[in-house]
This record gives sequence, C-alpha cells and structure tokens, in this order.
Amino acid sequence: MPPSSTSRVALVGLGFGAEFIPLYQAHPQAELTALCQRTPERLNALGDAFGIDKRYTDFQDLLQDPDVDAVHINTPIPDHAEQSIAALEAGKHVACTVPMATSVKDCERIVALTEETGLQYMMMETVVYSREFLYMKSLAEEGALGRIQYIQASHQQDMDGWPDYWPGLPPMHYATHCVGPCLALPNLDAVSVSCLGSGRIREELEKNYGSPFAVESAQIAMSDGETSARIVRSLFDTARQYRESIDVYGSLQSVEWPLIEGEPLILHTAKKPESEIPKKVSCPDYANRLPEALQRFTTEGVYDLDGNEHLSFTQGAGHGGSHPHLVNEFISALMDGRHPYPNARQSANWTCVGLLAHESAIAGGTKIALPSFTQSSPIVSGN
Ligand SMILES: NC(=O)c1ccc[n+]([C@@H]2O[C@H](COP(=O)([O-])OP(=O)(O)OC[C@H]3O[C@@H](n4cnc5c(N)ncnc54)[C@H](O)[C@@H]3O)[C@@H](O)[C@H]2O)c1
Repeated sequence: MPPSSTSRVALVGLGFGAEFIPLYQAHPQAELTALCQRTPERLNALGDAFGIDKRYTDFQDLLQDPDVDAVHINTPIPDHAEQSIAALEAGKHVACTVPMATSVKDCERIVALTEETGLQYMMMETVVYSREFLYMKSLAEEGALGRIQYIQASHQQDMDGWPDYWPGLPPMHYATHCVGPCLALPNLDAVSVSCLGSGRIREELEKNYGSPFAVESAQIAMSDGETSARIVRSLFDTARQYRESIDVYGSLQSVEWPLIEGEPLILHTAKKPESEIPKKVSCPDYANRLPEALQRFTTEGVYDLDGNEHLSFTQGAGHGGSHPHLVNEFISALMDGRHPYPNARQSANWTCVGLLAHESAIAGGTKIALPSFTQSSPIVSGN
C-alpha cells in the first residue's frame, strides 16, 4: 500500500479543544475525521458547524474506529493519562494537552508504551510555540544571547470558579507552562528539583488535594551540570493578573517578559550605557514556518517596533499564536515518521518536574532527582 498523504485525527474534549478544529481542517496533511466529547449537544453543534459527521460520546468507542490514526486529547486533567494510555494501547498516536499525567507512574507507562509500539506522543505545551518563546529561542540559536546563564519563569492565574478538578490543585501539578520553556530554551533535561511552598489557601480548597500552599517556587537543575532555572506558580488566593512569563539571562543579551499582559518584551544588551541597556522589542510572527493554509491563524496581538498593538484575525490564535504551530508539529512528525517536540520522554521530564516539585514542597524542600525514563540527554555530574 502506498504511504498515506494525510494523518487522520480525532479531537477529544471540545471546550478548549474546539479551538483546534479549524486548524486540523486547514492543515494540508491532516484530516479531521471525528469529534468526541461526553455530552451530545455541543458535540452535534460543533459537528454541524464544521461539517464533521463522525461523532462519539464514548472515548472507548472512538478508539475502535479504524479510520482514526491519532487522537488529540483536551479533556479534564485527571483523564489525560488514562486516555493517553488507552489510545496508545489501541494503536493510536497521541497528542495531549498539558499536563501529561498527575502521577510519575503514569508518565512512565506512557513513555514505555511509545517505546514498545513506536507510536508517537506529544504534549501540546503552548508556551514553547508562542511567538515570544520562538523569538527567544531564535536569539539563543543565533548566539545573540551568548552563554545562557539563568532562566526564570512564572505562571500565575486565579482559578476560582473553574471546573471541579481545579479547586485546591497543587500549583506545581500544572507547571509545564513554566518548566517547558526553561528546558526548551537551552534544550536540556531537568535532572533534579527542589521546591518550597509559601502562604496558605482557604481551608475548603486545601482539603481537596491536601495541598496547603498558595505559591510554590522551585529550583531546577539541568543535565549540562551548569544551568539552573527557577519557576513560580500560584493558582488560588494570590492577587496577580494572569501571567505566563519567561526571562532568559545570557552573557551578551537577556530577554524579559513584560510585567503586564500585552506589553512588549524587553531586550537587555550588555556593555552599553545603563540607559541604553533595555529596549522594548517586537516579536516577529513565525507564520512563515507553517504551511500557507495555517499562516493566518497565528495573528493575534502582534506588536510593531514601537510597541503598538495590531489586532486582526484571532480565531485559533490563542496562547501567543501557538496553536497552529502545535498542530503543524504533531502532523509533520507523524507524516515524517520522527519524534514530535516535545516527545514522550521530554513531556514526562517537564511534567515530572512539577509533580516532584510538589512532593519536595510537602517534604520541606528536599532535592528530588528526576527518574531516568524522563532523560533524553546524558547527565553531566555537578547538578
Ligand atoms: N494553554 C493550554 O495549554 C491550555 C489552555 C486551556 C485548557 N487547557 C487544558 O485543556 C483541558 C480542557 O480544558 P477545558 O477548559 O476545555 O475543560 P472543560 O472541562 O471546559 O472541557 C472538557 C471537555 O472534555 C470533554 N470530556 C470530559 N470527559 C470526557 C471523556 N471521558 N471523554 C470524552 N470527552 C470528555 C467534555 O465534554 C468537554 O468537552 C484541561 O486539561 C486544561 O488543562 C490547556
């Protein structure tokens, strides 16, 4: 049989997940063959609106469908691992929204399944495909930053009023938006983590997961034996506008994300008069890395060199224009028969940093090593 020219995908979970429907439909090498979510009303409304006839309310039924090569899972956090494992066992490739799992054991099972079967797994971490991150990564790859000396990242959000699995969730159980960019910038694995909890959330929240902390802040040691990062997370009872941020400090240049959402990045250049060191910069749009049919989906909140915002087409462009890049990375990896980025091991490494950081915080800050199944590069002693 000749190799197929498209990958047949089913989208599972159609809250946030619905944003990806037009992207798979537009991708020249993807076919969106089916939709799946528990309640039929929204399933049918979206199926009708986008002309998708195959609809499932039961995930297990979807997995029996021979016309589906891959599933993209966007269900509640507690379901990610169970559904990813079931899909891999049913012979489907998996893309799954963050985090990969809520236990180290489930991360290990997913990695083992991909290695046993040759199927691909990609955690759909939005930050590492945001235009801000892609800009910082380009600077790093061009050598403009010099040696990367340190990275810090934060993700603060007030999750009061979100669905039932959120209240009281340990902040580090949803840490991949900070961990991912810290490790993806230097392209290293985390080898150990230590974390302190701070403050206290309301008693009615605390009892849900037995997690008392309002804020968790962790130090990550990386596989080159030299680089480290700090991450900060809060989800409840901490006053802060929504913020995802990454600051990278290099020997030649550093980049900091703005303190207020929507303002431009700041580029610091060494060895200049103090007043000339910081400069507000615009992030280029990396739409040219995408198939033409997906390029329009990256545009949202693009800034010119003076920091002025130009808003235009916003459908599917959330999270720094990352969604079309995520879809393109997953589909091209399947079509090219290569690992996507992040692959199963990398996704496990990023997720387990958060899970073990919370364990560390509960234990008062103990340093915990990342398990070997999460390592993709050799570890250099020192960290
Ligand atoms: N930046 C990001 O990466 C980002 C942003 C938003 C949400 N998310 C993630 O996306 C996921 C979904 O978030 P949401 O806000 O849409 O949640 P939601 O609760 O609003 O929607 C969940 C969807 O999953 C469906 N679903 C639930 N259980 C199912 C099952 N067993 N089988 C099939 N479908 C099922 C529901 O019907 C619904 O369509 C969460 O895990 C969240 O962490 C990630």
